[in-house]
Amino acid sequence: MSDSNEKDNHKPLRIAVLVSGSGSNLQVLIDAMQAGALPIEIVGVISNREDAYAITRAKDATIPVAVLSHVASGKRMGIKTFETHASAQLTTWQPDLIVLAGFMRVLSAEFIDNTPAPMINLHPALLPAYKGLDTHQRAIQAGERQHGCSIHIVTAELDAGAVLTQALLEVHQKDTADSLQTRVQKLEHQLLPWTILLIAKGVLDLKTISAQTASNPTYLPALPLKLWLNH
Ligand code: GRF
Repeated sequence: MSDSNEKDNHKPLRIAVLVSGSGSNLQVLIDAMQAGALPIEIVGVISNREDAYAITRAKDATIPVAVLSHVASGKRMGIKTFETHASAQLTTWQPDLIVLAGFMRVLSAEFIDNTPAPMINLHPALLPAYKGLDTHQRAIQAGERQHGCSIHIVTAELDAGAVLTQALLEVHQKDTADSLQTRVQKLEHQLLPWTILLIAKGVLDLKTISAQTASNPTYLPALPLKLWLNH
C-alpha cells in the first residue's frame, strides 16, 4: 500500500445521508461516529420530508440538514427540483460516500450517474429477491424461510446494483409483516455500520466493484458478504 493510501485511511470517511423517515439507521451511524467506533464524519443529511424524525436526530447531533420537500409556493417538490437542490448540496459537502438510509424517493438515472461520490442503499430484503416495496409482507406470503436486508450500490435500475453485504434471519411461523420488519431493522442497525466500516477500511472498494460488476479481491469470499445474526 502506498504512503498516500495509508494517510487516506486515517482520515474519516465523509458521509452524506439521505433520509425520509424515522432515521433509526442514521442514529446508529451518529452514535458510532460519536463513540469513535466508526471512522466516519457525517457531513450532512438530506431529507425529502419535512416531518421526518431523522431531521431532529441530525440537528441534535449538530449535523447540517437540508430539507428538500417543498418549493417556496408550498407545492411539493418534483423529483427534478429535488435532484437539482440535492446535487448542489452534495457538491458543497463533498462526501466520499452517499448513503440512502430509508430514503423513499426513486432517483433518476441522470442524478445517480452524476453524484459526486459512490452511493449505497439499504434495502429490507435479500436482493435480488423482493425489489421495491412491501418486502416483508411479500416474503411471508411466499413462505420464505429466510429473510433479511441488503446493502447495494445504487444504479439507475431500481434495487439492482451490485449487492455488497447482507444480513439474514430465519422467518418464524408466527411472524407477521410487522414483527419481521422489527427483526429486520435490528439487522439493518448492524449491517449498515459494518458495511460502512468495510468501505472506510478499503476492504470494499466501491469504484473497483462498480467497474468490475460485482467482483472483489480474490482474498475475499464472493460478494455479497453475509452476516447471520440471531434476532
Ligand atoms: C428501513 O427499514 C429500511 O429498510 C427501509 O426504510 C426503513 C428506514 O428506517 N427502506 P429508519 O428511517 O432508518 O428508521
